[in-house]
Amino acid sequence: MGGEQLTTASSLTRVDVETRIRQLGKWFHNLDLNGVQTAPDHFLGDYPNIKWAKLQNFIPTNLRGKSVLDIGCNGGFYSLQMKRRGAERVVAIDSDPDYLEQARFAAEVTGLEIEFREMSAFETPSLKEQFDLVLFMGVLYHLRYPLLALDLLAEYVVKDRFIFQSLTRGSDEVALLEDDYPFAETAIFNQPGFPLLHFVEKSYSLDPTNWWIPNRACAEAMLRTAGFEIEANADADTYICKRVNNDERRKYLAELLGSTRKL
Ligand SMILES: C[S@@+](CC[C@H](N)C(=O)[O-])C[C@H]1O[C@@H](n2cnc3c(N)ncnc32)[C@H](O)[C@@H]1O
Repeated sequence: MGGEQLTTASSLTRVDVETRIRQLGKWFHNLDLNGVQTAPDHFLGDYPNIKWAKLQNFIPTNLRGKSVLDIGCNGGFYSLQMKRRGAERVVAIDSDPDYLEQARFAAEVTGLEIEFREMSAFETPSLKEQFDLVLFMGVLYHLRYPLLALDLLAEYVVKDRFIFQSLTRGSDEVALLEDDYPFAETAIFNQPGFPLLHFVEKSYSLDPTNWWIPNRACAEAMLRTAGFEIEANADADTYICKRVNNDERRKYLAELLGSTRKL
Protein backbone atom coordinates (compact mmCIF):
# COMPACT_ATOMS: atom_id res chain seq x y z
CA MET A 1 0.00 0.00 0.00
CA GLY A 2 2.79 2.44 0.98
CA GLY A 3 4.67 1.62 -2.26
CA GLU A 4 1.66 2.55 -4.36
CA GLN A 5 1.43 5.95 -2.71
CA LEU A 6 5.16 6.57 -3.09
CA THR A 7 4.97 5.86 -6.83
CA THR A 8 2.54 8.76 -7.19
CA ALA A 9 4.83 10.92 -5.10
CA SER A 10 8.01 10.13 -6.99
CA SER A 11 6.43 10.62 -10.43
CA LEU A 12 6.20 14.37 -9.80
CA THR A 13 9.21 16.43 -10.83
CA ARG A 14 10.34 19.45 -8.84
CA VAL A 15 8.96 21.73 -11.56
CA ASP A 16 5.58 19.93 -11.43
CA VAL A 17 5.48 20.41 -7.69
CA GLU A 18 6.48 24.05 -7.87
CA THR A 19 3.87 24.82 -10.52
CA ARG A 20 1.10 23.06 -8.62
CA ILE A 21 2.03 24.76 -5.33
CA ARG A 22 1.64 28.17 -6.95
CA GLN A 23 -1.66 27.13 -8.61
CA LEU A 24 -3.03 26.19 -5.20
CA GLY A 25 -2.97 29.81 -4.03
CA LYS A 26 -1.54 31.38 -0.90
CA TRP A 27 -0.39 28.82 1.67
CA PHE A 28 -0.56 29.32 5.44
CA HIS A 29 1.53 26.21 6.13
CA ASN A 30 5.14 26.30 5.06
CA LEU A 31 5.78 22.72 3.94
CA ASP A 32 8.79 21.32 2.17
CA LEU A 33 7.44 19.41 -0.82
CA ASN A 34 10.17 17.80 -2.89
CA GLY A 35 12.51 20.62 -1.85
CA VAL A 36 10.00 23.37 -2.65
CA GLN A 37 8.74 25.54 0.19
CA THR A 38 5.04 26.34 0.11
CA ALA A 39 5.12 29.56 2.22
CA PRO A 40 8.71 30.75 2.47
CA ASP A 41 7.67 34.33 3.29
CA HIS A 42 5.23 33.52 6.10
CA PHE A 43 4.58 36.49 8.43
CA LEU A 44 5.15 34.24 11.46
CA GLY A 45 8.45 32.84 10.16
CA ASP A 46 8.89 29.17 9.29
CA TYR A 47 5.36 28.28 10.32
CA PRO A 48 4.28 25.87 11.74
CA ASN A 49 7.74 24.28 11.96
CA ILE A 50 8.59 26.70 14.78
CA LYS A 51 5.47 25.58 16.63
CA TRP A 52 6.13 21.89 15.96
CA ALA A 53 9.67 22.22 17.35
CA LYS A 54 8.08 22.83 20.76
CA LEU A 55 5.09 20.53 20.41
CA GLN A 56 6.81 17.44 19.04
CA ASN A 57 8.21 16.34 22.40
CA PHE A 58 4.71 16.16 23.86
CA ILE A 59 3.36 13.79 21.21
CA PRO A 60 4.24 10.09 21.40
CA THR A 61 6.94 9.24 18.88
CA ASN A 62 5.07 6.05 18.08
CA LEU A 63 1.38 6.48 17.31
CA ARG A 64 0.96 2.96 15.96
CA GLY A 65 -2.64 1.79 16.33
CA LYS A 66 -3.89 5.27 17.16
CA SER A 67 -6.56 7.30 15.40
CA VAL A 68 -6.07 11.03 14.95
CA LEU A 69 -8.47 13.80 13.98
CA ASP A 70 -6.90 17.07 12.80
CA ILE A 71 -9.55 19.81 12.92
CA GLY A 72 -8.77 22.84 10.76
CA CYS A 73 -5.96 20.90 9.09
CA ASN A 74 -5.14 23.74 6.69
CA GLY A 75 -2.20 22.70 4.45
CA GLY A 76 -1.92 19.41 6.34
CA PHE A 77 1.29 20.00 8.30
CA TYR A 78 0.18 18.32 11.53
CA SER A 79 -1.67 15.50 9.78
CA LEU A 80 1.50 14.63 7.89
CA GLN A 81 3.52 14.66 11.13
CA MET A 82 1.00 12.35 12.83
CA LYS A 83 1.17 9.93 9.92
CA ARG A 84 4.98 10.06 10.01
CA ARG A 85 4.72 9.01 13.65
CA GLY A 86 2.88 5.91 12.54
CA ALA A 87 -0.75 6.81 13.32
CA GLU A 88 -3.04 4.10 12.02
CA ARG A 89 -5.63 6.58 10.74
CA VAL A 90 -5.48 10.31 10.29
CA VAL A 91 -8.69 12.13 9.43
CA ALA A 92 -8.08 15.74 8.43
CA ILE A 93 -10.95 18.19 8.18
CA ASP A 94 -11.24 21.83 7.25
CA SER A 95 -14.18 24.04 6.37
CA ASP A 96 -12.18 25.71 3.59
CA PRO A 97 -11.97 23.64 0.39
CA ASP A 98 -8.96 25.59 -0.89
CA TYR A 99 -6.83 24.68 2.12
CA LEU A 100 -8.02 21.08 1.82
CA GLU A 101 -6.82 21.01 -1.78
CA GLN A 102 -3.38 22.12 -0.59
CA ALA A 103 -3.35 19.41 2.08
CA ARG A 104 -4.44 16.77 -0.44
CA PHE A 105 -1.58 17.74 -2.70
CA ALA A 106 0.90 17.66 0.21
CA ALA A 107 -0.28 14.13 1.06
CA GLU A 108 0.10 13.10 -2.57
CA VAL A 109 3.65 14.45 -2.84
CA THR A 110 4.76 12.93 0.46
CA GLY A 111 2.99 9.63 -0.24
CA LEU A 112 1.25 9.65 3.13
CA GLU A 113 -2.29 8.33 3.45
CA ILE A 114 -4.69 10.77 5.06
CA GLU A 115 -8.49 10.88 4.91
CA PHE A 116 -9.73 14.35 4.06
CA ARG A 117 -13.20 15.77 4.64
CA GLU A 118 -14.60 19.20 3.97
CA MET A 119 -16.30 19.68 7.28
CA SER A 120 -16.76 22.20 10.07
CA ALA A 121 -15.67 21.55 13.64
CA PHE A 122 -19.38 21.76 14.56
CA GLU A 123 -20.20 18.86 12.26
CA THR A 124 -17.68 16.45 13.79
CA PRO A 125 -20.29 14.59 15.91
CA SER A 126 -21.59 13.25 12.57
CA LEU A 127 -18.32 11.30 12.21
CA LYS A 128 -19.73 9.10 14.99
CA GLU A 129 -16.24 8.28 16.15
CA GLN A 130 -14.05 9.11 19.10
CA PHE A 131 -10.40 9.59 18.19
CA ASP A 132 -7.43 8.75 20.41
CA LEU A 133 -5.86 12.09 19.64
CA VAL A 134 -7.60 15.23 18.44
CA LEU A 135 -5.75 18.33 17.27
CA PHE A 136 -7.64 21.59 17.54
CA MET A 137 -5.03 24.16 16.77
CA GLY A 138 -5.61 27.69 15.61
CA VAL A 139 -9.35 27.22 15.19
CA LEU A 140 -11.15 28.35 18.37
CA TYR A 141 -10.88 32.09 17.70
CA HIS A 142 -12.25 31.61 14.19
CA LEU A 143 -15.54 30.34 15.59
CA ARG A 144 -18.65 32.34 16.36
CA TYR A 145 -19.65 29.81 19.01
CA PRO A 146 -16.34 28.72 20.52
CA LEU A 147 -17.48 27.09 23.77
CA LEU A 148 -20.09 25.06 21.93
CA ALA A 149 -17.33 23.65 19.73
CA LEU A 150 -15.25 22.63 22.76
CA ASP A 151 -18.30 21.05 24.42
CA LEU A 152 -19.16 19.10 21.28
CA LEU A 153 -15.60 17.88 20.80
CA ALA A 154 -15.29 16.76 24.41
CA GLU A 155 -18.63 14.99 24.32
CA TYR A 156 -18.54 13.31 20.92
CA VAL A 157 -15.11 13.30 19.31
CA VAL A 158 -12.22 13.11 21.78
CA LYS A 159 -11.49 9.71 23.29
CA ASP A 160 -8.31 10.54 25.17
CA ARG A 161 -5.88 13.34 24.32
CA PHE A 162 -6.66 16.81 22.99
CA ILE A 163 -4.03 19.18 21.62
CA PHE A 164 -5.30 22.73 21.76
CA GLN A 165 -3.79 25.97 20.56
CA SER A 166 -5.33 29.42 20.33
CA LEU A 167 -4.32 32.90 19.46
CA THR A 168 -4.47 34.81 22.76
CA ARG A 169 -4.51 38.50 23.45
CA GLY A 170 -4.53 40.52 26.65
CA SER A 171 -2.89 39.53 29.89
CA ASP A 172 -0.82 36.37 30.27
CA GLU A 173 -1.59 36.29 33.97
CA VAL A 174 -3.86 33.64 35.41
CA ALA A 175 -5.63 34.70 38.61
CA LEU A 176 -6.44 32.18 41.28
CA LEU A 177 -10.20 32.60 41.61
CA GLU A 178 -12.76 31.56 44.19
CA ASP A 179 -15.73 29.46 43.06
CA ASP A 180 -18.08 32.34 43.78
CA TYR A 181 -18.12 36.06 44.62
CA PRO A 182 -20.83 38.29 46.10
CA PHE A 183 -22.77 40.58 43.72
CA ALA A 184 -21.04 43.61 45.28
CA GLU A 185 -17.63 42.34 44.18
CA THR A 186 -16.73 44.22 41.04
CA ALA A 187 -12.97 44.73 41.25
CA ILE A 188 -12.27 41.09 40.46
CA PHE A 189 -13.39 41.63 36.86
CA ASN A 190 -10.64 44.21 36.38
CA GLN A 191 -7.87 41.88 37.52
CA PRO A 192 -5.58 41.14 34.57
CA GLY A 193 -5.75 37.40 35.30
CA PHE A 194 -9.56 37.19 35.16
CA PRO A 195 -10.79 35.09 32.17
CA LEU A 196 -11.63 37.42 29.30
CA LEU A 197 -12.88 36.62 25.81
CA HIS A 198 -12.39 39.57 23.47
CA PHE A 199 -15.15 39.95 20.91
CA VAL A 200 -14.14 41.14 17.44
CA GLU A 201 -17.23 42.53 15.77
CA LYS A 202 -15.66 43.38 12.42
CA SER A 203 -12.18 42.10 11.70
CA TYR A 204 -8.76 41.56 13.25
CA SER A 205 -5.53 41.32 11.29
CA LEU A 206 -7.52 41.71 8.06
CA ASP A 207 -9.43 38.53 8.91
CA PRO A 208 -13.19 38.83 9.54
CA THR A 209 -13.24 35.20 10.77
CA ASN A 210 -11.42 36.20 13.96
CA TRP A 211 -14.42 36.34 16.31
CA TRP A 212 -13.42 35.67 19.91
CA ILE A 213 -9.87 35.97 21.20
CA PRO A 214 -9.29 34.73 24.75
CA ASN A 215 -6.67 35.84 27.19
CA ARG A 216 -4.64 33.03 28.68
CA ALA A 217 -6.83 32.63 31.77
CA CYS A 218 -9.90 32.36 29.55
CA ALA A 219 -8.42 29.76 27.21
CA GLU A 220 -7.59 27.61 30.23
CA ALA A 221 -10.98 28.15 31.90
CA MET A 222 -12.83 27.24 28.69
CA LEU A 223 -10.84 24.03 28.36
CA ARG A 224 -11.63 23.08 31.95
CA THR A 225 -15.33 23.86 31.75
CA ALA A 226 -15.68 21.79 28.58
CA GLY A 227 -14.11 18.84 30.41
CA PHE A 228 -10.44 18.90 29.48
CA GLU A 229 -7.78 18.53 32.11
CA ILE A 230 -4.67 20.52 31.22
CA GLU A 231 -1.66 18.24 31.56
CA ALA A 232 1.11 20.38 30.09
CA ASN A 233 1.96 23.43 28.04
CA ALA A 234 3.98 22.77 24.90
CA ASP A 235 4.12 26.53 24.37
CA ALA A 236 2.46 29.50 26.09
CA ASP A 237 -0.66 29.09 23.94
CA THR A 238 -0.50 25.35 23.27
CA TYR A 239 -2.03 22.85 25.68
CA ILE A 240 -1.81 19.09 26.03
CA CYS A 241 -5.10 17.98 27.54
CA LYS A 242 -6.84 14.84 28.66
CA ARG A 243 -10.57 14.42 28.30
CA VAL A 244 -12.38 13.84 31.56
CA ASN A 245 -16.02 13.09 32.31
CA ASN A 246 -18.04 16.19 32.91
CA ASP A 247 -21.72 16.09 33.88
CA GLU A 248 -22.00 19.87 33.67
CA ARG A 249 -21.10 19.91 29.97
CA ARG A 250 -23.51 17.06 29.31
CA LYS A 251 -26.31 18.97 31.00
CA TYR A 252 -25.78 22.12 28.93
CA LEU A 253 -25.44 20.20 25.68
CA ALA A 254 -28.58 18.21 26.38
CA GLU A 255 -30.41 21.45 27.03
CA LEU A 256 -29.18 22.98 23.77
CA LEU A 257 -29.56 19.96 21.51
CA GLY A 258 -32.93 19.17 23.04
CA SER A 259 -34.24 22.65 22.29
CA THR A 260 -32.75 22.62 18.77
CA ARG A 261 -34.63 19.43 17.97
CA LYS A 262 -37.88 21.12 18.97
CA LEU A 263 -37.32 23.99 16.49
C1 LIG B 1 -5.09 29.60 11.70
S1 LIG B 1 -5.43 28.22 10.70
C2 LIG B 1 -4.72 26.92 11.70
C3 LIG B 1 -4.25 25.76 10.87
C4 LIG B 1 -3.58 24.63 11.64
N1 LIG B 1 -4.52 23.91 12.47
C5 LIG B 1 -2.45 25.15 12.45
O1 LIG B 1 -2.52 25.17 13.69
O2 LIG B 1 -1.45 25.55 11.84
C6 LIG B 1 -7.16 27.96 10.93
C7 LIG B 1 -7.75 26.86 10.09
O3 LIG B 1 -9.02 26.52 10.61
C8 LIG B 1 -9.93 26.40 9.54
N2 LIG B 1 -11.28 26.63 10.08
C9 LIG B 1 -11.86 27.81 10.39
N3 LIG B 1 -13.11 27.61 10.86
C10 LIG B 1 -13.30 26.28 10.87
C11 LIG B 1 -14.40 25.46 11.25
N4 LIG B 1 -15.54 25.97 11.71
N5 LIG B 1 -14.26 24.12 11.12
C12 LIG B 1 -13.11 23.58 10.63
N6 LIG B 1 -12.06 24.32 10.25
C13 LIG B 1 -12.14 25.65 10.37
C14 LIG B 1 -9.47 27.42 8.54
O4 LIG B 1 -9.98 27.16 7.24
C15 LIG B 1 -7.96 27.26 8.64
O5 LIG B 1 -7.48 26.26 7.80
